[in-house]
Amino acid sequence: MAIANHPTHPEVDLLDGRWYANEPHETWTWMRHNAPVYYDEKCDTWAIMRYKDVLAIEKDDETFSSYRSPRPHGDPLPMMISMDDPEHLRRRMLVNRGFTPKRVRDKEPEIRAICNEIIDKVCENGECDFVWDIAAPLPLILIGDMLGFPRESYEDLLHWSDDMIRGTTVSDPAATEKAMMAGIAFREYQLKVIADRRTREPQKDLVSILCHAEMNGEKLDDESLIQETLLILIGGDETTRHVITGGMLALMSHPDEREKLMANRHDDAYVVRAVEELLRWVTPIKNMSRSATKDVEMNGQKIEEGEQIVLMYPSANRDEEIYEDPFVFDLERETNNHLAFGFGTHFCLGASLARLELKVMFEQLMERLPDIQLKEGAELPFRASNFIVGPEAMPITFTPTAATS
Ligand code: HEM
Repeated sequence: MAIANHPTHPEVDLLDGRWYANEPHETWTWMRHNAPVYYDEKCDTWAIMRYKDVLAIEKDDETFSSYRSPRPHGDPLPMMISMDDPEHLRRRMLVNRGFTPKRVRDKEPEIRAICNEIIDKVCENGECDFVWDIAAPLPLILIGDMLGFPRESYEDLLHWSDDMIRGTTVSDPAATEKAMMAGIAFREYQLKVIADRRTREPQKDLVSILCHAEMNGEKLDDESLIQETLLILIGGDETTRHVITGGMLALMSHPDEREKLMANRHDDAYVVRAVEELLRWVTPIKNMSRSATKDVEMNGQKIEEGEQIVLMYPSANRDEEIYEDPFVFDLERETNNHLAFGFGTHFCLGASLARLELKVMFEQLMERLPDIQLKEGAELPFRASNFIVGPEAMPITFTPTAATS
């Protein structure tokens, strides 16, 4: 690497999950202003802090390859997020069938029914843990059902995917070890599911569709099926939940905004716009990685061929060059082209599904548990991960109400 006029900040640690757990917006702002293309010597990785630079990289997939994505210095994996076009596109077209706008739109009644079931389980108690009782189950149930996994396996799926994400930090070798064990357990489990789907007539679930799909006369091998379904499971169940929790947290600490959402909860367009601000505010995926395919200059820094880059989404989404008052939580923000779902060829495949889950969940929460508060003395431990971050627990109280079924 060639570094010119590069001020450093003692707290930056691009691969340490503890750094991200504290959501260090002050440091990220300092980096945007003083070293927007930041080289972290500890892990030999560049961080891209400004919105326009993140966008430029997302648009230029010839210079910035996803081959080793999603983690810096990671090994290439047989999943779409770790591929470049045209191979990536072929793979994405296969999986995309389950996520067309129409298929997603048709899910609204089902999503509402699941939200109500989830709220029914806790509403009479007057208290619960928001993360585990409300936020985590919705995306897990939806993605588990779409993949066609039996419901009795959902608890295992949740533990495995949680452990895999908890392992994305360099600061905790025990968590890395647990993540490996979870990966092995998921692999063994998924091999059995794949064997079952292969021997049966094609079904409507995604695992079955992928098992029977042919590309250029070839079918996906076991390893590709395992990795692709793991990507969808983790993409589905580890992200949306944090926007539900982080969004609720933001609403609790901005009572005026919460009142506006409450007053407009039956106005579809209002809630749709509000959800975009929740996504910008929380930005649960902290970065995605790319590798430079040739030497390239950016903001006076020379990134050399093969070097690793992380696109720092939470920083881009608070960039004052793009957003007026980026640190103001404003559900009525007029222009909000945030990068929480990335951009370009790898733009999140599940974005429409996540948006719909968030819209319906917040409508139901406003309707049925309108006075949620943090439990007195509640602690909010944030998960240490250099990839996907959010609270591990959020005890809440509310006025008990009757279940609907
Ligand atoms: C709020 C929730 C979510 C957020 C914030 C999120 C964010 C992201 C981001 C940042 C990327 C990478 C984009 C890039 O590199 O440019 C991505 C890719 C992806 N996401 Fe999501 N995601 C969410 C929900 C979901 C859901 C529900 C699914 C379920 C299917 C999903 C599946 C995927 C897949 C398969 C990719 C890889 C796409 C590709 O490589 O072409 N995500 N997501």
